[in-house]
Amino acid sequence: MPTTNAPIGIFDSGLGGLTVAKAIQELLPHEQIIYFGDTMHMPYGDKHKHDLIGYTEQIVEFLLRHNVKMIVIACNSASANCASHLREHYHTQVEIQGVIRPILDEVIRQEYKHIGIIGTQATMDSGIYEEILKEKKQNIHIQALATPKLAPMIEEQMSKGHYNDEIISDYLTQFTNIEALLLACTHYPLIKEKVQTYFNNKVSILDNSNYMAQAVQDYLKESNQLAKAKQGDHQYFVSHKTENFVKAASLFFGKSINVQEENIFAQ
Ligand code: DGL
Repeated sequence: MPTTNAPIGIFDSGLGGLTVAKAIQELLPHEQIIYFGDTMHMPYGDKHKHDLIGYTEQIVEFLLRHNVKMIVIACNSASANCASHLREHYHTQVEIQGVIRPILDEVIRQEYKHIGIIGTQATMDSGIYEEILKEKKQNIHIQALATPKLAPMIEEQMSKGHYNDEIISDYLTQFTNIEALLLACTHYPLIKEKVQTYFNNKVSILDNSNYMAQAVQDYLKESNQLAKAKQGDHQYFVSHKTENFVKAASLFFGKSINVQEENIFAQ
């Protein structure tokens, strides 16, 4: 059984989940994080549910070998397609939470009437955002759009900072009269400023990271598992290590990040 001092496991297809990891580190500085980026299979957004379930089971097993006390699926595509399966399969071993519920709780709290949602094809095809919102809130107009070019562009260009503004605006131009835009992909906060600028700061831009961090804090508090003092260093693993990932992760945290390659899919 993990102790309160055990680490929190977090995973994504690549860099995007780092936005959630950072928010958790800032809110809960005593917690240690074990991060896994499945860069070998990035992007998750164009994968079938069946394949995503296969990859994410392997990642959960890997994190369990690190004795984590909870697992955060810091990826919307995996949260949308695999969270129920993983929870069903592993509920006796570990708490598993996805990024979707916490941001939707905020949408409901704010009582928005007209929102936009952008995310990967896998997330948008699942229809989960609309499903949960319609279930909880009758009078909301939702405009959802798959934006499949964004996550691969961010993953590749983050370390260079050469984003193609036209790709971003071609997508955003499709939204009219929205009060809020949900960034339903954990990669998108990395271009949040560009999105804000596009809308002249007149639309609220919401992303998963801070709401997820809050949900992690609530869960650890309620289950009496908050770490009491600073634990070991955070650890970052990827299934395929590239210079690009190391550079982008270091840039994102503003310090050199040690990234280890662990091909958990080898056999
Ligand atoms: N960051 C992920 C998400 O939130 C996945 C992006 C991708 O790999 O396509 O959906």
